[in-house]
Amino acid sequence: MNKFFIFCFILLIHSCSGTKQLVQQNIDPYNYSSTKKTIVSNGAVVSAHPLASKVGLQILKEGGNAFDAAIATQLALAVVYPGAGNLGGGGFMVATRSNGDRLALDYREMAPASAHRDMFLDEKGNVMEGRSVLGHLSSGVPGTVAGLFETHQYARLPFKKLIEPAIALAEKGFKITAREASGLNSISGNLKQYNTMATALQKEGQWKAGDTLIQKDLAQTLVRIRDNGKDGFYEGRTAQLIEEEMKRGGGIITKEDLKSYKAKWRTAYAFDYKGNTVVSMPLPSSGGLLLHQMMKMLEKKDIQKMGFHSPEAVQLMIEVERRAYADRSEFMGDADFYTAPVQAITSQAYLDQRMQDFIPGKAGKSTEVLPGKIKVSEETTHLSVIDREGNAVAVTTTLNNGYGSITVVGRAGFLLNNEMDDFSIKPGVPNIYGAIGGQANAIVPGKRMLSSMTPTIVLKNNKPFLIVGTPGGTTIPTSVFQTLLNIIDFDLSTEEAVNKPKFHHQWLPDRVDIERDFPSTLAKALEKMGYQMHPRSAIGRTEVIRVLPNGQFEAVADKRGDDSAEGF
Ligand code: GLY
Repeated sequence: MNKFFIFCFILLIHSCSGTKQLVQQNIDPYNYSSTKKTIVSNGAVVSAHPLASKVGLQILKEGGNAFDAAIATQLALAVVYPGAGNLGGGGFMVATRSNGDRLALDYREMAPASAHRDMFLDEKGNVMEGRSVLGHLSSGVPGTVAGLFETHQYARLPFKKLIEPAIALAEKGFKITAREASGLNSISGNLKQYNTMATALQKEGQWKAGDTLIQKDLAQTLVRIRDNGKDGFYEGRTAQLIEEEMKRGGGIITKEDLKSYKAKWRTAYAFDYKGNTVVSMPLPSSGGLLLHQMMKMLEKKDIQKMGFHSPEAVQLMIEVERRAYADRSEFMGDADFYTAPVQAITSQAYLDQRMQDFIPGKAGKSTEVLPGKIKVSEETTHLSVIDREGNAVAVTTTLNNGYGSITVVGRAGFLLNNEMDDFSIKPGVPNIYGAIGGQANAIVPGKRMLSSMTPTIVLKNNKPFLIVGTPGGTTIPTSVFQTLLNIIDFDLSTEEAVNKPKFHHQWLPDRVDIERDFPSTLAKALEKMGYQMHPRSAIGRTEVIRVLPNGQFEAVADKRGDDSAEGF
């Protein structure tokens, strides 16, 4: 019966006046399921895990706003979704406040102080296979905890309250899903190889759906953050444990790196598309720029008339994707270290000129579609939240691919990212997503690696209309792009916009990745035009909240995962 008891955590919460109040949360971590769609009036949360969405909902119900819910949901994801939810990674938040303010918060990981351009090359200049992807050296200085505390200035409830559900879930445990069991089983060999101490993610034999995952060390780290704020992570015992872990495993992150980490407010990247304002993330994410380039390259074409998933429309979308990603490889990197020619590569004249060699019905070639000439020199996770006041929050956060570096900080219980691989470790050498880069995205101490994460809010008449984002490495911008077109141009329902098969072209490799349920007749039509079609596993897990004309919130969670939408 233990398995099915209602998990009530009775929390002592310090209110602003200093008095204590008891808050009871009824979330059953042993008996839950995903809700794929909900239509509500007061507030909604969509995230990659049902328990995390429920935590966010509970916070909204207890008077928190969208920022409170986004913080609590991320903290819960760090416990219940270890493959991508994180303390040891980084992310971006794009938000629009009820007063119209637009926010973009960068808590992307940074290269440690002793990182250098050639750190993943051997003495002959060859890439040391796997070193930027697995183990201690692959980690950048984590940004998530700094990001959560920066976000908190817009929240209403005490941070201590927002972190309690995560502490309880780590301390008491929760039932894992079949997907999580399979994910943990798939990394069991790597967990042995890349850890210096036993971790809570390992067990004798195979994980199976319904097993309980208890993470005591992680709970203690969360308690230190609760009690000491940001310093509970970036200084003191947690920082000491990270440095010790690095020393044991040949990594380079130091206590000084941790102490000097800062999340940064950026100017949200915004552009107009057919009467909507798309608000997204600027560099060091390529997401906002790529969306701008792709959407504005085709805005003047009547794609609606071509029809959803018509060969004409899909070919046009593939060709704008190809051109935008060619520019990504050349021109995009952390704007604090590299002067990216943002104005030049997003001017309408430039984008029109980029499409001049587009031939309807004929596949372009990436060897011919090079980055433009200008005059100047897979696993991540997304959550969307809205509250009744009209605050909208889109957060994409990551360890990079599934379970990051696979290295858990000994006695601190959280996984570290393998985000160093998002740098260009050698010009022209593809990263795990096949993306290549050069000088703009070369490793420099303190620099943030180029990202594809695209948390995005679309405004209609300056009010939130869509809150969207997805995991998926380099497929993130193309998934967001397609989801937006599916709704704005093709008039699909929100569920269809999220769940219909997606496709992806990123310039190199010169092929079209398609999900396995991509229509075969459409694939054949594109093959006839000269495209190489490449079936692959699911592309992204898109979470959308759409504000309906009557003001209600329609929250939709992607069918591709355990993702879940909650609201009230
Ligand atoms: N690590 C995936 C991204 O930031 O694009």
